[in-house]
Amino acid sequence: MSVLPSIGQPVSRLEGHLKVTGGAKYAGEYNIPGLLYGYVINSTITKGKIMKFNTGPAKALPGVIEIFTHENRPSLAWFNQQYADMDAPPGAPFRPLHDDKIKYNGQPIALVVAETFELARYAATIVEVEYEEEVFNTKLEDHLADAHAPAVGLATMLKPLPPKPRGDFESAYAGSFAQVSAEYLHGTEHHNPLELFATTTIYEGEGKLTIYDKTQGTVNSQLYVGNIFGLHFKDIRVISPYVGGAFGSGLRPQYQLFMSVMAALELKRNVRVTLDRSQMFTFGHRPPTIQHTRFGADESGMVTAMNHSAVAETSQFEDYTEVVVNWANMLYPASNTLMEYKLVNLDVYSPLDMRSPGGSTGLHAIESTMDELAYKLNIDPVELRLINYGHTDASMGRPFSSKELKECYLQGAEKFGWSNRNPETRSMRRGNKLVGYGMATGIWEANQLPARAEAMITKEGKLQINSAVTDIGTGTFTVMAQIAADELGLEIDDVIFSYGDSKMPFAPIQGGSFTTSTVGSAIKAAGKALRKKLLKKAVYMKNSVLKGAELDDVMFENGYIVLKNNPSLCVSFQDIIAGNNGKVIKTTNTSFPNVFRLKKYSRATHSAVFVEVEVDEELGIINVTRALTAVAAGKIINPKTARSQILGGMVWSISKVLHEETISDHNLGKYMNQNLGEYHIPVHADIHEMDVIFVEENDTIINELGVKGVGEIGLVGMPPAIANAIYHATGKRINQFPIHLDSLL
Ligand code: MOS
Repeated sequence: MSVLPSIGQPVSRLEGHLKVTGGAKYAGEYNIPGLLYGYVINSTITKGKIMKFNTGPAKALPGVIEIFTHENRPSLAWFNQQYADMDAPPGAPFRPLHDDKIKYNGQPIALVVAETFELARYAATIVEVEYEEEVFNTKLEDHLADAHAPAVGLATMLKPLPPKPRGDFESAYAGSFAQVSAEYLHGTEHHNPLELFATTTIYEGEGKLTIYDKTQGTVNSQLYVGNIFGLHFKDIRVISPYVGGAFGSGLRPQYQLFMSVMAALELKRNVRVTLDRSQMFTFGHRPPTIQHTRFGADESGMVTAMNHSAVAETSQFEDYTEVVVNWANMLYPASNTLMEYKLVNLDVYSPLDMRSPGGSTGLHAIESTMDELAYKLNIDPVELRLINYGHTDASMGRPFSSKELKECYLQGAEKFGWSNRNPETRSMRRGNKLVGYGMATGIWEANQLPARAEAMITKEGKLQINSAVTDIGTGTFTVMAQIAADELGLEIDDVIFSYGDSKMPFAPIQGGSFTTSTVGSAIKAAGKALRKKLLKKAVYMKNSVLKGAELDDVMFENGYIVLKNNPSLCVSFQDIIAGNNGKVIKTTNTSFPNVFRLKKYSRATHSAVFVEVEVDEELGIINVTRALTAVAAGKIINPKTARSQILGGMVWSISKVLHEETISDHNLGKYMNQNLGEYHIPVHADIHEMDVIFVEENDTIINELGVKGVGEIGLVGMPPAIANAIYHATGKRINQFPIHLDSLL
């Protein structure tokens, strides 16, 4: 009986039931007997020194166990680099409780440990701290003269610096028929996943720890803890099967992990540290940026000169970078280019990758500049993109492994009804609302990293797969089970996937849209090796009906190895296990990206986004009434979870353009809306009709699965599409996000 392929099926997420019924436990929900609770105290000044703690009254409260500060913390690793992690930018990583120096507002400076969370939190409020304040700088606009090229480090491998200038931008721009230039401003954003950051550390005795951590990388947290506290890696087990959203905030170990582990080791007790919502604004953010573009085109619409320059904020201790200005020439083949990217060090915490880091920033500038050019030349915005279609990646001078962006434009425009658009601004109405249609392009990188996976056939004849990878809510668990099922010809119900555990074979941090290609390839490799191993065992069984069979001669179907040219001859997995003296058959394998082949190609996902807005002329209220994203992302393993990824990015796009911003008071050097009451995000009433198309894209180069990843592409093209639609509706080009209604009045 044959099994239908699982890949390509819209399988509902396997852990969905557990999540919606409360059965899925998150890092802060492991109620271990004898658990102690930690509450972190954060600096109320922005820069300076801690002169004195008065912890006496707090410590005297019955039930308060200990208060840790830089004065009584244990001895820790000496060198800055021991505090680095898989996502650390160049520089000296922040070291919690290191010394008396305050580097940013909200810096964790003490941990109160008590019998209950409420007591720890109360005790924290009566700890007095005396500071000596110093002058600080937190405002990007005021320090543009200090902008410098970012330091280069390991992280630069996945985040390339801007491409070198090509041709002669200045003279080509000066001489071009049509010129467009603009400035784009983005504010700070915080990730704000629903699940608060939390770590529950179980002290197992003799320096052994089991750690339930909210993270996007179990091995990343394991290595961090081992390096800092001088423990053997094998004595540290980090577990994180369910993650209630992260969006990049869990790519680096955060300070609650440090605090929880430190207290557990010192007190030899089980300790949980949970951050509260305001503390979620104290460890990384999407950096504010200032961008400038200058595009020049000839009469036919061909863009011949492109300049894209960006300045972004970083901390005083790390040069956080993201890819903002590399995209324009990847998309459009102008031969005169000038791409610049600079950083300003300010007295803030290091920025941190936030979903589509750099791309959702840079593409706004690029695609709104293209939109402006379309009006200037009186060419339809879709047509302008087709005129400038990059069949190869001009910035790197190499072909794409695949690129079905043209189909995205065409299929997207068709389904959206783009042809109903009147090209004039303020020309379309619905009652007292101005209606606007806008479109834009999205592009995001398709990377793969090395990973390992274990595959085994259990005594019951099921397929067990193991990987340290997390599932940050993207559907990884389900998608990996689908890949494994197909590799062994099983129903997905016959696959058990264990993940989110550093004890399992290595997986890198989950992010960068590279998890399906990375861990999927490892699982495919392990599955393939397991097939070989099973066949070998089957062939050498006593009186085997498969005697002499090679891998090409057989099929794996529903728990049997079947001879292709005589399907009545087969051996079941269970019989193979029995023939193996009842022992499970397993294999662990590593997959690497094929770098020698891949370096000849640029690899990216693409999208075309179409948006309709309604703008109330009197009130300035903006509604995104319709949006459609057409995506080319190689093979889609699971159209349901992939669609959810794109929809999530589309909802976030509405948030980014219309709602979301962390407001700073630069006199205090402090974020002023550290709560979900004043940090605006969209609600159901803000979200209307949304549609996703996956365009067929066959990529035989990128990896064996042909997958590119869909985690981030949904948030790249839609922000400029919304801004362009608002321009079409109102005739007002607002280049500062979020776009508030008062800017339209
Ligand atoms: Mo994503 S910003 O790589 O979690």
